[in-house]
Amino acid sequence: MIRSVVRGYGAALPKRVMTNRDLESIVDTTDEWIVQRTGITQRYIAGEGETTASLGEQAARAALDNAGLTPADIDLILVATSTPDNTFPATAVDIQRRLGMEHGYAFDMQAVCTGFVYAMATADLHIRGGMARRALVIGAETFSRILDWKDRTTCVLFGDGAGALILEAEEGEGTTSDRGILTSKLRSDGSHKEKLYVDGGPSSTGTVGHLRMEGREVFKHAVAMITDVIEGAFEATGTTAEDIDWLVPHQANRRIIDASAKKLGIPPEKVVVTVDLHGNTSAASIPLALSVALADGRIKKGDLVMLEAMGGGFTWGSVLVRW
Ligand code: UT7
Repeated sequence: MIRSVVRGYGAALPKRVMTNRDLESIVDTTDEWIVQRTGITQRYIAGEGETTASLGEQAARAALDNAGLTPADIDLILVATSTPDNTFPATAVDIQRRLGMEHGYAFDMQAVCTGFVYAMATADLHIRGGMARRALVIGAETFSRILDWKDRTTCVLFGDGAGALILEAEEGEGTTSDRGILTSKLRSDGSHKEKLYVDGGPSSTGTVGHLRMEGREVFKHAVAMITDVIEGAFEATGTTAEDIDWLVPHQANRRIIDASAKKLGIPPEKVVVTVDLHGNTSAASIPLALSVALADGRIKKGDLVMLEAMGGGFTWGSVLVRW
């Protein structure tokens, strides 16, 4: 059977670092509060000329270099984002243009913080269905542009950035020893809309709007939703927590990551955490975390890697990949 195997990775961050101390002069907060409640110490904030598409393009070029490929080798570009450069066309199509690609197809995926998981699952279906042979899957965000910088309950949490993976069709045996995506679990429940949303949009207010979140309410649901889709992936593949080499979670809050791993019986030394460095970069957080753990040699070919995320909607999901 066809498997979608990871062929390359890349990442991009804005030039400007904003520390917790910097935030102390913007809103009524402290470094201690942010570190204790979230684990975040700094985040990157896009400056002039840096946009979701420009960061996504940079991450895409890095992934192509890493794979030893060129844009001519790619059939599909999928961009997970909630902060597109324009309402339309899709950021993916803009990145296609920036890469000089006149072939293939490109579209955006909107599942907020679960966007990269949705995009991986979707690219896998396109590859296994024979629509594409190689897909560039990008998570790119500039959440700083939809934050209310007067609201200390949200503006301290998020950051900007982009990460990308290249998936390629490869023949597998149909067992969990195969390299590539082994299973994906996607979920959503729109009844939670008011707990995490943006209070504007083209069809409602005609404005971009600002992110609004009832943090404690989101927190209350996060661990149960995350463990539900991870256990679903275990069940679908006959694997267990002990088989996992690396858990690469969405990076929203250190406490959510620790509690989920503990509930699943995955030891802390197998969990990739970058929320301290990047803050919550929504759909970019998983590929950014992956790029750190791949660059420092933690994740190796053949490792069993569980990706998971939960976010606005609510949406939540997992992808189990053998690297
Ligand atoms: O990626 C999408 C998914 N999003 C998430 O996963 C976010 C989930 N939620 C969270 O991570 C946490 O709920 C937060 C980090 C957002 C908040 O942590 P918390 O422990 O739930 O704090 P809280 O909202 O219950 O607030 C505790 C106190 C409040 O003061 P009072 O009412 O106890 O006097 C807040 O007003 O902390 C106050 N507070 C702050 N203080 C200093 C809220 N924000 C800040 C701040 N600095 N930035």
